[in-house]
Amino acid sequence: MNAAGGAAQLGSPDDSGEPNLLLRIAGLSKQFPGVLALDAVDFELQPGEVHVLFGENGAGKSTLIQVIAGVHQPTKGTLRFRGMPVVLESVHHARTLGISAVFQEFSLVPTLSIEENIFLGAELTNHGFLNKRDLHHRAQDILTRLGFPLRPEQRVQFLSRAQQQMVEIAKAFRTDLSILILGRSGFSHLLKTPNAAASVLSTSPIA
Ligand SMILES: Nc1ncnc2c1ncn2[C@@H]1O[C@H](COP(=O)(O)OP(=O)(O)O)[C@@H](O)[C@H]1O
Ligand SMILES: [Mg+2]
Repeated sequence: MNAAGGAAQLGSPDDSGEPNLLLRIAGLSKQFPGVLALDAVDFELQPGEVHVLFGENGAGKSTLIQVIAGVHQPTKGTLRFRGMPVVLESVHHARTLGISAVFQEFSLVPTLSIEENIFLGAELTNHGFLNKRDLHHRAQDILTRLGFPLRPEQRVQFLSRAQQQMVEIAKAFRTDLSILILGRSGFSHLLKTPNAAASVLSTSPIA
């Protein structure tokens, strides 16, 4: 993928102090062994914007969103988040900044409930004990905010695929979210609620 990507806008790489700009990517390249997956990509994301990346197979869509999600580190280029230069060291690091990705692979544990899945790996503990009531209420809040008609105590294995996608999205909202990355556009129709309040970056193959 090169600098001319679909909805991407060109920006000057040395711009600084743009706290209202959520994300600015400048001159981003990613070299895999034998493949230059991204070649000097510029991209910016304003609060509330929704972008869809289009491109044929191998164009670099997944690589770009994986760099923004902290999965891959860029070979070249800079990334600014809310005006500050950042190096996203891991998915966990990106998440702590409010950047969260839902990829194609499902990450849910079927035998656990919705609320347990939403907070899996980030359990709310009270002196080392799982605070189940808090977990339940926070899960319910997230589902309500997103307008998903699900009950937090439902077991994931009995949910439809669309409902499981809702849980995946709800999981991304367990911390304050600024950027939601959807690893395929099939998810985006689920987000009808404007008060979900995150910018969305989604990918779609040209078909
Ligand atoms: N982990 C990886 N190691 C090596 N090459 C990769 C890796 N991930 C992607 N690539 C290569 O980078 C290019 C872009 O891939 P990708 O970002 O998956 O494109 P898209 O999502 O648009 O189909 C492809 O040529 C792909 O083979
Ligand atoms: Mg892809």
